[in-house]
Amino acid sequence: MKLSPQHSGLNFSTILSCSLIFIISFISIIVMDVNCTDDNKSTDQFALLAFKKGITEDPLGVLSTWNNNNNSFHFCEWRGVTCSLRHRSRVTVIDLDSQGLVGSISPYIGNLSFLKDLILNKNSLSGEIPQQLGHLFRLKRLGLANNSFEGQIPHNISRCSNLIHLNISRNHLVGSIPNGLGYLSNLTILDLKDNNLSGEIPTSLGNLSSLTHLILGVNNLEGIIPGSLSQLTTLKVLDLAMNKLSGMVPSSLYNLSSLTGLSLMFNQLHGSIPFDIGFTLPNTNHFSVAINNFTGTIPSSFSNLTKLEILQLQNNNLVGSVPYNLGDIKSLKILNLGGNDLGSGHANDLNFFDSLINCTNLNLISLVENNFGGTLPSSIANLMIKLGALYLSNNQIYGGIPAGIQNLVGLTTFILAHNLFTGSIPPGIEELQNLVKLDFRHNRFSGSIPSSLGNLTRMTHLHLMYNELTGLIPSSLGYCKSLQTNRLSGNIPKQIFELPSLSRFLNLANNSINWFTPNGSL
Ligand SMILES: *[C@@H]1O[C@H](CO)[C@@H](O)[C@H](O)[C@H]1NC(C)=O
Ligand SMILES: *[C@@H]1O[C@H](CO)[C@@H](O)[C@H](O)[C@H]1NC(C)=O
Ligand SMILES: *[C@@H]1O[C@H](CO)[C@@H](O)[C@H](O)[C@H]1NC(C)=O
Ligand SMILES: *[C@@H]1O[C@H](CO)[C@@H](O)[C@H](O)[C@H]1NC(C)=O
Ligand SMILES: *[C@@H]1O[C@H](CO)[C@@H](O)[C@H](O)[C@H]1NC(C)=O
Ligand SMILES: *[C@@H]1O[C@H](CO)[C@@H](O)[C@H](O)[C@H]1NC(C)=O
Ligand SMILES: *[C@@H]1O[C@H](CO)[C@@H](O)[C@H](O)[C@H]1NC(C)=O
Ligand SMILES: *[C@@H]1O[C@H](CO)[C@@H](O)[C@H](O)[C@H]1NC(C)=O
Ligand SMILES: *[C@@H]1O[C@H](CO)[C@@H](O)[C@H](O)[C@H]1NC(C)=O
Ligand SMILES: *[C@@H]1O[C@H](CO)[C@@H](O)[C@H](O)[C@H]1NC(C)=O
Ligand SMILES: *[C@@H]1O[C@H](CO)[C@@H](O)[C@H](O)[C@H]1NC(C)=O
Ligand SMILES: *[C@@H]1O[C@H](CO)[C@@H](O)[C@H](O)[C@H]1NC(C)=O
Repeated sequence: MKLSPQHSGLNFSTILSCSLIFIISFISIIVMDVNCTDDNKSTDQFALLAFKKGITEDPLGVLSTWNNNNNSFHFCEWRGVTCSLRHRSRVTVIDLDSQGLVGSISPYIGNLSFLKDLILNKNSLSGEIPQQLGHLFRLKRLGLANNSFEGQIPHNISRCSNLIHLNISRNHLVGSIPNGLGYLSNLTILDLKDNNLSGEIPTSLGNLSSLTHLILGVNNLEGIIPGSLSQLTTLKVLDLAMNKLSGMVPSSLYNLSSLTGLSLMFNQLHGSIPFDIGFTLPNTNHFSVAINNFTGTIPSSFSNLTKLEILQLQNNNLVGSVPYNLGDIKSLKILNLGGNDLGSGHANDLNFFDSLINCTNLNLISLVENNFGGTLPSSIANLMIKLGALYLSNNQIYGGIPAGIQNLVGLTTFILAHNLFTGSIPPGIEELQNLVKLDFRHNRFSGSIPSSLGNLTRMTHLHLMYNELTGLIPSSLGYCKSLQTNRLSGNIPKQIFELPSLSRFLNLANNSINWFTPNGSL
């Protein structure tokens, strides 16, 4: 093997003297190493020991091998450390993911000039991220996610021009995103999620032509979304959720056909969703613009997004009808359209349910707080064995609960509150054995409470107040062992209070006599 003098620091005379020592005294390789230490080697060892010094707690003892007292262990054998094959005493990898380490990163880390991977995710490291990382020009992967780092993102990181993955998510970083990150032209992952970063998104990030993941969600970023981001033609995931971004989404951003996930949720964005979204983002499986100020209608071209699993448009100002062909999206799992101004208040508003019957993965549907009228189509009984949650509260839906509701055996949450439902509570409901929350309050349900409700042993929330129910509260409800924070209505037999399985949080209200002040909360 040819040693490069530059890197090994060896010269002829040290080789000669080593050989002499070796030949004359038959001293082991390890001693030879000690005697022949080149500068880089001792620098690397010194830097590792300095790193260890910065760690104040090591509950799993992962650094117990990190010491220079035990000559049987070269530092390249220390746990979590890997050295170069070519330059055998140069550290290339430190991987101490999820080791429960407490402490901070020593600035000496910047002396490990062969380091390619520094992976310290999921520990409890704090303090500032040292600027000295900027000396690590060979660094490819920097993983500091899920720690407690403070201060700013060191500007000098932008000198690590070979970085491919930069993941500093879930820390306590403040300040702005350095413009210089735009020079890291090999970056594929930039994850700064869940910090307290402020300022604007640098336009220079549009220069990161290899980027596949740009994750800046859960910060305090403000200003507009720079149009330069639409140059990121390899981008798969763009997550800008939960910031204070404002203005309109640059329309060119919707042309990033490589996107599989787009989340702009919880900002102050406005504008409409382009009518041709279904053609421009064909690979999207997650589309969320919820909790913004989007206006206009739901484009029917969504139905062409055949990989879509999560569609979250809730809490905007969308109007019009729900496209009837939404059911063409067979992969749909979550459909959340709540908190808009959708529907006309008239019949047929909910006909789109008919189209959902082949969406066999649907797990959650929310249409709450809209203007939907009409009746709940009986097709609902044919859908969605996997449906776990159906939220329809605060609309103007009338008529009865369709027969066959008991087919939705996966339902855990069934919310019809604040509508105009009539008829009786269908006894078949007892077959929904997974029900945890049933909220039918503020409707016009009549008849008696089916005693079979008592079979729903997982129920914790039962809200029936403000209806036209009559008869006795069935004592069988006592078998709902986990029934706790009830808001129940009906004519209440005194003995219900003696049922030991109902907790002291039981709150019962009558349709004609209110025993307790209903508070309307879930
Ligand atoms: C040196 O390390 C080896 C391997 O872990 C261990 O068995 C030995 O006890 C250590 N010796 C000292 C003096 O720490
Ligand atoms: C290593 O890094 C530290 C702190 O950044 C510095 O003081 C020291 O001179 C560097 N060099 C060596 C050979 O340890
Ligand atoms: C990562 O951080 C989040 C929140 O900061 C925490 O809930 C989660 O448990 C952490 N994960 C690990 C594996 O430490
Ligand atoms: C940070 O980078 C600048 C040059 O951009 C350099 O002058 C400075 O010494 C670096 N700081 C550290 C701590 O390495
Ligand atoms: C960043 O690191 C965290 C913790 O290891 C991980 O959960 C997350 O998926 C990483 N981000 C990306 C984009 O890979
Ligand atoms: C980026 O990656 C390419 C291809 O792997 C490589 O040739 C180049 O040296 C890397 N670094 C920079 C700064 O472009
Ligand atoms: C985040 O930073 C802002 C200033 O930019 C500050 O007012 C706020 O308290 C910080 N929040 C947290 C949770 O640190
Ligand atoms: C990087 O982005 C900035 C701002 O968009 C631009 O002015 C600059 O020319 C770009 N630099 C390179 C090297 O692409
Ligand atoms: C949302 O948009 C509507 C209509 O364009 C406007 O009247 C309203 O002020 C906006 N609200 C916010 C919070 O931006
Ligand atoms: C879009 O979907 C409609 C039906 O919803 C279909 O007729 C049309 O061919 C699709 N277009 C493309 C480009 O997939
Ligand atoms: C559901 O799938 C069946 C079988 O592929 C098909 O005949 C039917 O038209 C589909 N219904 C809807 C509403 O898409
Ligand atoms: C359901 O409840 C009714 C009335 O309380 C009872 O007669 C019946 O045996 C129960 N069925 C099951 C499956 O528990």
